[in-house]
Amino acid sequence: MNPLDVSVIVPTYREAENLPVLVPRIATALQEAQLTFEIVIVDDNSPDATPRVCADLAARFPVRLETRTTERGLSSAVMHGMNVARGDVLVCMDADLSHPPEKVPELVRTLNEGADFVLGSRYVKGGATAEGWGLFRWLNSKVATLMAWPLTATSDPMAGFFAIGRDTFEAARNLDPIGYKIALELLVKCRCRDVREVPIHFENRLHGASKLSFQEQVNYLRHLKRLYEFKFGALARLAQFLLIGGTGMVVDLAFYVLLLGWLPLGLARAAAIWVAMTWNYWLNRRITFSFARRRAVLPQYAMFCLSCGLGAAVNWSVSLALSSLLTVFGGRPLLAAVVGIIAGSLFNFILCNTAVFHRTKPAPESVGEPVLVDNP
Ligand code: GDD
Ligand code: MN
Repeated sequence: MNPLDVSVIVPTYREAENLPVLVPRIATALQEAQLTFEIVIVDDNSPDATPRVCADLAARFPVRLETRTTERGLSSAVMHGMNVARGDVLVCMDADLSHPPEKVPELVRTLNEGADFVLGSRYVKGGATAEGWGLFRWLNSKVATLMAWPLTATSDPMAGFFAIGRDTFEAARNLDPIGYKIALELLVKCRCRDVREVPIHFENRLHGASKLSFQEQVNYLRHLKRLYEFKFGALARLAQFLLIGGTGMVVDLAFYVLLLGWLPLGLARAAAIWVAMTWNYWLNRRITFSFARRRAVLPQYAMFCLSCGLGAAVNWSVSLALSSLLTVFGGRPLLAAVVGIIAGSLFNFILCNTAVFHRTKPAPESVGEPVLVDNP
């Protein structure tokens, strides 16, 4: 089989009406650019005329239909298409004509000029979002883009229109996308450096309805968490720990205010701290250290409280020591307290990371005999 210049991968679910418009336009654009190509349609067994439509199209165009019956989902469909594609350049686009097929040659050309990744972007000069996008959808897209900013500096990593070299794709490790944001996954995991953007006009879909649901938005948050941990490791976990700590402070103060009407000062303070600590425990178990969320609650909770107590002791001692030992902190008890809080939180985090929610070690193999565990 001769290698091809380009494979255009089109994930579809119920897009039978759009394919007869999309395929000829892709073909014309690529033929005019004198590129050899194939169009790989990855369909998740749509209950519509997709198979018949593809068979008709295949008589006139280099179209290949890949039907998946055991799996569903946009990202995994794209990955499947990329794995079976034969082209040197892999282009991914939606079937609903939101992405202009006429731009495919420009994406390919830009990649062949030396880029690692080329994105069709709505948010660079010359690009545009579809008309009639309500404030909500626009804001939604903007917030999602902003949340991904530390992962990639590109302006539109949410887009599903992009080109990547097959070599770059094959060199990626641990590809494991969930949800919709396959471009973001590839940008981060392929460690693409030279990322270029080509302006596009994003159009409203021609026929049918979007499959972007609320569940996909939740998936996006889970996906972001994974990508942050991939790129920043323990730092990403520290950031989650601190964010949760921030919400814990709000809970603490709210309960304190509430309880002050019922209980004496000391008791109200203690109860509010306990509620906030429990709140922090639960969120850290579910989010920051989610790999440990199936372990028994009680011992873990007890360890967490102990860790918080030790953190508080570090906080207390550091604040007091600084105030009494260093002249800079002499008349500034609040500054000393802030340093104490930072030290205490870091101490607490390190304990959580290593002891409370530690990653499980593989179980020792021998059974029946006392086991000496040699901890490195
Ligand atoms: N195989 C397969 N399986 N394809 C799917 C699935 C699925 O489960 N879900 C959606 N698709 C296909 C659709 O048929 C379409 O071709 C493409 O993926 C995009 O789906 P839409 O339902 O049209 O998504 P959208 O318009 O809301 O989202 C698009 O724009 C977003 C930016 O606003 C996509 O390009 C997103 O990737 C992009 O983030
Ligand atoms: Mn769409």
